[in-house]
Amino acid sequence: MANSKNYNNLSQVEPSLESQDYYSDEAFEAELKHVWYKNWIYAGRDSELARQGDFKSLRIGSQNLLLVKNAQGEIKGFHNTCRHRGSELCSEEQGNLKSKTISCPYHRWTYSLDGELIRTPNLIRTDDFQPADYSLYPVSVKRWKGSLFVNLDKSEIHSFDSSLDPSPNHLDSWPLEELVLAHSYETKILCNWKIFWENFVECYHCPGIHKSLCDMVPIYQRTFVSKQDEHGWEKHQNDGDPRFCGGLKHGAKSWTTDGQLQGIQFSDLTTNEIQAGYTYLQSLPSVFIVAHADYVRTVSLLPDGPETISLKADWLLAKESLDLEQFDLSKIVDFGVEILKEDAEVCELNQRGVKSLAHKQGVLMPQEYDVVNFHRWLKSQFHA
Ligand code: FES
Ligand SMILES: [Fe+2]
Repeated sequence: MANSKNYNNLSQVEPSLESQDYYSDEAFEAELKHVWYKNWIYAGRDSELARQGDFKSLRIGSQNLLLVKNAQGEIKGFHNTCRHRGSELCSEEQGNLKSKTISCPYHRWTYSLDGELIRTPNLIRTDDFQPADYSLYPVSVKRWKGSLFVNLDKSEIHSFDSSLDPSPNHLDSWPLEELVLAHSYETKILCNWKIFWENFVECYHCPGIHKSLCDMVPIYQRTFVSKQDEHGWEKHQNDGDPRFCGGLKHGAKSWTTDGQLQGIQFSDLTTNEIQAGYTYLQSLPSVFIVAHADYVRTVSLLPDGPETISLKADWLLAKESLDLEQFDLSKIVDFGVEILKEDAEVCELNQRGVKSLAHKQGVLMPQEYDVVNFHRWLKSQFHA
């Protein structure tokens, strides 16, 4: 069958990954090394570290990191490991270092918020020990539109800009930097991190799993993500029917329980962005951002092990929206949490089933073209 121009879907089925890649320790360790320790990983909002001495810790695989705000207002990243004999420095998840120093609880070596070793109690001097040689191990931190990313790879083989898909300026119409964190939702999902992404990038599952979402975004009922997912899509390109051209159902303006705006519509959105109703940006392997007309949601994940992820969703709004008299945050949050729970359930089903001794490898159907793209990206990480 001849394909339409720019037709997205696959013209043939493709093999999925081997089943053991979703649960074996070996695969997980290799992915930590080549993917999670090499890429820019989402680390939250910079508003979480508002004052000098504020800190948060972050675990990526076996690596424990510490982010702190220094006297100049910069956010510094370090391995959460003392340079003396390697003790963990900070065991709390979040807080403020009242002393404005980082003190190791073991032998009390003390570091400045910039990571320099500034105190070594009971030190017996020797000629060969220079404190300047024992600063904390640094970790790269990038602030981007109010969000923080860290990178464990000192050589930064992946540039930050190249990690934002489709492009760093894709959400320029949204005032991301100024938005405030209105709500967070955290959960553990018992699935491999790749199962989460595979599920996220396809809508083959949408009609059976996401009733409210499919009502809001009619093209999803048809298992398509964009109009070009359909063979012969050119026939419908001027239809204006959201079942064919995508976007929200007629009359809806935002992903909320009643489809209406809850916050103030962002003022710089283009007509296309308003009509689309949702704009996605992702940064593999740790976060996707969905921007709507009146709010933005970030969904980030960290791998706890081969078969568990920690998921966090943050809802970001303009401060003025939160102050509106009729503002009802639950209309925004409930809609998103329902989708997250529906996805979590099928991700866990997938994880449990994939361990069957009989199941060596799955098969990807035409609508799952973006799962193939995800697998290509994954393979490319091992050759970077
Ligand atoms: S391990 Fe930190 S001071 Fe000894
Ligand atoms: Fe889904």
